[in-house]
Amino acid sequence: MQGSDERSTVDTAMPRDIEDIGSNPAPVDPIGQVLGRRLARRAALRGLIGATFAGVAVQGRAQGADAGVQGVGASTLGFRGLPHGTGPGEAVAEGHEVQVVIRWGDPVLPGAPAFDPTAQSAAAQAMQFGYNNDYLDFFPLPKGGEGEHGLLVVNHEYTNPELMFAGLGDARAARLGTSAAQVATEMMAHGASVVEIRREGGPGNGRWAPVAGSRLNRRITAETPIRVSGPAAGHDRLRTSADPTGMLVRGTLNNCAGGNTPWGTVLIAEENFNYYFGGPGVEEGAQAASYKRYGLVRDAQFPWGRHVPRFDVASEPNEPNRFGWVVEFDPYDPASVPVKRTALGRFKHEGCTHAVSADGRVVIYMGDDERFDYVYRFVTARPWDRENAAANRDLLDEGTLSVARFGDDGTVTWLPLVHGEGPLTEANGFRSQGDVVIEARRAADLLGATPMDRPEDVQANPVNGRVYVMLTNNGSRTAARTDEANPRANNIHGHVIEIVPPRGPRGVDHAAPTARWETFLMAGRPGSDPGASYHRAVGADSGWLSCPDNCAFDSKGRIWIATDGAPAAANVADGLYAADTEGEGRALTRRFYAAPTGAEVCGPLIGPGDRTVFLAIQHPGEDRGSTYDKPSTRWPDHAEGMPPRPSIIAIVRKDGGAVGS
Ligand code: FEO
Ligand code: CA
Ligand code: CA
Ligand code: CA
Repeated sequence: MQGSDERSTVDTAMPRDIEDIGSNPAPVDPIGQVLGRRLARRAALRGLIGATFAGVAVQGRAQGADAGVQGVGASTLGFRGLPHGTGPGEAVAEGHEVQVVIRWGDPVLPGAPAFDPTAQSAAAQAMQFGYNNDYLDFFPLPKGGEGEHGLLVVNHEYTNPELMFAGLGDARAARLGTSAAQVATEMMAHGASVVEIRREGGPGNGRWAPVAGSRLNRRITAETPIRVSGPAAGHDRLRTSADPTGMLVRGTLNNCAGGNTPWGTVLIAEENFNYYFGGPGVEEGAQAASYKRYGLVRDAQFPWGRHVPRFDVASEPNEPNRFGWVVEFDPYDPASVPVKRTALGRFKHEGCTHAVSADGRVVIYMGDDERFDYVYRFVTARPWDRENAAANRDLLDEGTLSVARFGDDGTVTWLPLVHGEGPLTEANGFRSQGDVVIEARRAADLLGATPMDRPEDVQANPVNGRVYVMLTNNGSRTAARTDEANPRANNIHGHVIEIVPPRGPRGVDHAAPTARWETFLMAGRPGSDPGASYHRAVGADSGWLSCPDNCAFDSKGRIWIATDGAPAAANVADGLYAADTEGEGRALTRRFYAAPTGAEVCGPLIGPGDRTVFLAIQHPGEDRGSTYDKPSTRWPDHAEGMPPRPSIIAIVRKDGGAVGS
């Protein structure tokens, strides 16, 4: 879901997102002394920028705004960047082609009916590809293989009933007007899909397509039974009338980005779970403060409680506590039971990507996507076991969850969320580690974590070992609340920072208690948006970006950044950008793909051999006043009567070479 209230050609179709407001009412000032901090910042910024761009002597033809088309220049990337601008259609850098791999409603499970937008049902949708695709992952077939054949794993974050069903009117009217049968269909359009795909015909002329009727395919929905493990499993606050054990949840919701593990499982992250829960119960009872910290409101954005009692908080006060977790499952086994790993904390998880630390322990990096919320990591108690898969099965149940404090002096300190330590005691309402993870946000508040500008993907670059933090935007930050890591007031374009963990003889120590941080780029238009900062060859009419959200790295360690929610003033469609992270082309961002109207770009995934970039095109047509009956686009089918359809695309180079090279 888009999250900026400043964009506006696009959309006020969506009610103002709760994430736009922020539910961290009195963020702890981790340093204090605002004035002293500002002075320190000026000095440090000079130092940081000097360090970041030192030695970046632009060689070759590094041009900025040459007719709006960005040249090759100092970058190791070989494509010419697209010019800036908005348009009704999509666009991709020359020499590449877009292939549509699978669309909302396409058959996934064997026997699924073909998509018919006039004959939707929960039963059909449960077997078909879900809505609003976000996270993408690829698991090779056979396991460990390197060919262009594997399992595509896709999250389905949320639904747009105004674009799914005829006659419901605009977004708000549609959400209030959906029938019980339509809500049941929406519930089946949530969750995740596993789809066997293959590139037929080979590189150069091959097309990516699903393998029809694959027995490996799977749908996970808002009704799939999911086991609960870790410190909150069986907790009183997870027990409901349908599940008195607090151990088995029905479904997963609002799965945004995700990650995977070295042992071959996938992690999908529950983000804005609060949107589904409402009613007067939100403002009553012992949990009212907790509901508020997690952004629950009486008038739920997605008022499913009108038809499904468990989403009415007065009926089931603990049901909201069963969401906001990271879910792990084995994509190779369609019968495996997914597991909510509560040790990783409960918040609005954007994603959950891993790095293996020098000693073999696995570190999961996570962002809590809300204004003034935090960056977290989880470190497993034990190294993962390459030889014995069973030893890794519950590795994510034991370890240490920490939250980041970004010091103005360039340090990162990881603050452990451990029951009994510091303020996380019974005196503050934490009677167990279960309480700590259920209210991870409040625990992090008490520890003095740094309130960030909406942390989305947090992901380690496997080549240089640095961890990239996408901070998508925060129009609510005032000058008095800026700090070095969030240095801009009214930060409507966002920025990207790097965490630099210490490096030892055995590799990068992602589990170390401290690290350093630096600025990678400050988004916005160079020359006119205050503080916008990239490689100096990024021009005012090309290459710059707004609202970084998800990222990926190719085998050379170059970063690919997908954007979500560029404000109207930016006059640019969301898209995909690429840049070097090291050397002469560092932070020389270049626009590779522009999304269809109303859409954001999610899930960038670099395919086998760097020959494909897979993208999840989410909420095409989610524009102001755009409805099923009169959509702003009918992408990707462009056929009368066919609504816009969130879809996965594969971008390949026409000559079969590495994408973007
Ligand atoms: Fe679902 Fe933070 O985007
Ligand atoms: Ca989004
Ligand atoms: Ca996102
Ligand atoms: Ca976003």
